[in-house]
Amino acid sequence: MDIMTRKMLYSKEEIDQRVRELADRISRDYEGREILVVGILKGAFVFLADLIRCISVPCEVDFTRLASYGAGTVSSGNIVITKNIECSIKGRDVLIVEDIIDTGLTLSYLVERLKEEEPRSVRVCAFIDKIKRREIPFVADYVGFTMDDGFVVGYGLDADEKGRSLPDIYIIEE
Ligand code: XMP
Ligand code: MG
Repeated sequence: MDIMTRKMLYSKEEIDQRVRELADRISRDYEGREILVVGILKGAFVFLADLIRCISVPCEVDFTRLASYGAGTVSSGNIVITKNIECSIKGRDVLIVEDIIDTGLTLSYLVERLKEEEPRSVRVCAFIDKIKRREIPFVADYVGFTMDDGFVVGYGLDADEKGRSLPDIYIIEE
């Protein structure tokens, strides 16, 4: 996949605007509470950094990392946690922050795993949602943008580790 053949999908300005809108909603929904934000490495770190700085309620931050093993580029469903969160989530309000939802396999696995630890609540905030690509039903609580098919890079998202540092989001033209 060549990140040079790309077309802008969301500009930095559109991204900033949408992040502020999401943060406002989250701040209202969690008023008077404290959020434990769990970012999914690596892709979500840029979005997470912007989001938490616009949220007005106190946020604690932790990270997890997952991998899906199997043939091909699409999720196989064999998902494993390669880096666990390091804090206790029992009784806490957990907000998972993800860059993009595709098949839904990663997030449904993670949500189920975290629920076993009896948090007070678990919600998901994903910056991009490829709704039509779901292989299992999964609905995120907060979504920045929905898109159809296509592979995107920038704003933390990568193609073979390239393109993560781009401030805008681009669709790769194959
Ligand atoms: P699921 O389990 O929902 O996995 O299929 C979502 C994960 O797939 C990766 N992904 C992408 N990464 N551009 C990327 O940089 C994309 O267009 C894209 N689509 C899916 C991503 O790692 C996400 O966490
Ligand atoms: Mg990811």
